[in-house]
Amino acid sequence: MTTLSPLIAGNWKMNGLTHSLDELAELARLMTAGAAPRAVVVVCPPATLLAAVAAQGASSGILAGGQDCHTDASGAHTGDIAAGMLADAGAQFVIVGHSERRAGHSETDDEVRAKAEAAIGAGLKPIICVGETEAERDAGTAESVIAAQLAASIPDAAEQHELVVAYEPVWAIGTGRTPSVEDIAAMHASIRAGLVERFGSERGESIRILYGGSMKPHNAREILSIENVNGGLVGGASLLAKDFYTIISAV
Ligand code: PGA
Repeated sequence: MTTLSPLIAGNWKMNGLTHSLDELAELARLMTAGAAPRAVVVVCPPATLLAAVAAQGASSGILAGGQDCHTDASGAHTGDIAAGMLADAGAQFVIVGHSERRAGHSETDDEVRAKAEAAIGAGLKPIICVGETEAERDAGTAESVIAAQLAASIPDAAEQHELVVAYEPVWAIGTGRTPSVEDIAAMHASIRAGLVERFGSERGESIRILYGGSMKPHNAREILSIENVNGGLVGGASLLAKDFYTIISAV
């Protein structure tokens, strides 16, 4: 199996004003003070800060990402943002299909796949999010729900283009609750098997699968050491440089 360099992505969600760039500067300071981090580090700020994060992060190896993009390259879509605009602002990644977009903006798997295609078309690496609800986990259908979401959300273009999968149980996001190590291991193994089945072993094993949902300084090391967990998508704990750096160094 290919060794994948882990990726830690911070999702600032709808948080961050100009002064939040001080936090980014502190993260850069921490990252360059000691041994080089073993993870690829991505920060996904609100779009208003994207260009600043991309410019400021460049010297310390912090990459920038968007939090969503439209399916179209341009047009009459007031308030939306195209993948090419994110790339133009310096982004290399974009999160698509986050559960807060799926729930709050009724995004379907088809739309998420079209967004991932748009991202790839603009030269970005999409971070495609999937996750089951608590009711689905309780009903024992988590793995089949995730398999179906992935089948419909990942574009065929994944065969030739880099993308990232993020498994984020909806009930673990922002709640301080996480699945057990065994449950995370089982889900990531199941996702890996699905990727290998669809794209073949070489390609399927080269796609990073991140875990997201209440990843914190205190649990990052344990979660990141689980097989087939190739990094994390971090919300709340990415807002404080110190906490985010602790997670980065847990790799
Ligand atoms: P959380 O969010 O780390 O605050 O739970 C994760 C996410 O929504 O990506």
